[in-house]
Amino acid sequence: MSFQQELESVKETALKELGAIKDSAALDSFNTKYLGRKGIFRDLSSRIPQLANEEKGQAGKLLNEFKNILAQRIAEKEPDLKSAPQVSGDLPDFTLPGEDKNIGRQHPVYRTLADICGIFSRMGFEIAYGPEIEDEYHNFTSLNIPLNHPSRDAFDTFYLNLKTEEPKNERTGKEAESSSVEGGRWLLRSHTSPVQIRVMQNRKPPLKVIVPGKVFRPDKPSPKHFPMFHQVEGLMVGEGISFTHLKGILDVFCKEAFGASTEMRFRPSFFPFTEPSAEVDITCIICNGKKVNENNESCPTCHGEGWIEILGSGMVHPNVLENVGYDSEKYTGFAFGMGVERIAMLKYHINDIRLFTENHIGFLSQF
Ligand code: DAH
Repeated sequence: MSFQQELESVKETALKELGAIKDSAALDSFNTKYLGRKGIFRDLSSRIPQLANEEKGQAGKLLNEFKNILAQRIAEKEPDLKSAPQVSGDLPDFTLPGEDKNIGRQHPVYRTLADICGIFSRMGFEIAYGPEIEDEYHNFTSLNIPLNHPSRDAFDTFYLNLKTEEPKNERTGKEAESSSVEGGRWLLRSHTSPVQIRVMQNRKPPLKVIVPGKVFRPDKPSPKHFPMFHQVEGLMVGEGISFTHLKGILDVFCKEAFGASTEMRFRPSFFPFTEPSAEVDITCIICNGKKVNENNESCPTCHGEGWIEILGSGMVHPNVLENVGYDSEKYTGFAFGMGVERIAMLKYHINDIRLFTENHIGFLSQF
């Protein structure tokens, strides 16, 4: 084999080897093997002086070309290998569909809660929070709820047998006695209304707050009842606050929450902590107040009434204002409270409150 033929075959092998290289370490050893100090190129060059004189010129030229080609190909390959991920073994199949990561979503109750808070925040209400473990004074006594009121009964409230210090009566600072009117038994709050008291005890009017949170009642679970649910309480106190303000604020809320064509009405009611008190109904969001469905049957959601109740409200009772040390001759206010699950059930057509706590992916992923 002539020197020239030998060179051709070395070149062919070298380019094949180079083509198969997949990482920069292999490229380095390839470089050393061919162009290194003891490399193949050096070896071939050292044989030129032994060639016949007429062969020397051509052989030197071809050898140089070979060196340049190798150097150029190595330089071209280098950046590709550096940026490519260094994978050993078989390459993954990049054409396979990606893995779908389930990132979850907001629970329908919390979504409804956030929507409600959003509507009132835009009307200038601040958000306030209070403890879920309350004392009897805040949950009942300060709210003008008399001792014989059924909601104070053990059937309607979770009382706790805590061995900690008895809560003090906030107003008198006296140790509360377990069975007294100002009794200091600990309990799980049965509504968010005690936070009205906590806010007013800490602040001077004017104030405008909403209170989202969990409440607890020892109700047997059923499609409409669950021992834990959520409420949003509202309170606005200042000079010259009247029922008109309550109506204006709630009308905006109903239209924002249930749609611009929603109408609201007040229905006289009774709550110990408001006077006068009223329940608020909206036009049924299923039959739009028509009382019947498309088949002319009585609407099952509003039972053919055309209206559904969504919250309780009223003007803050003067006794409640006096209980927190506000001058009830100078200041007036309104309050309201609504059940969040009830509103979520109406909005999303859910017929069983227990679904909210069962953690069924099939249920939750619909929202
Ligand atoms: N606390 C009442 C309940 O749980 C709801 C309520 C009614 C709150 C009227 C209020 C109100 O602030 O004014 O049934």
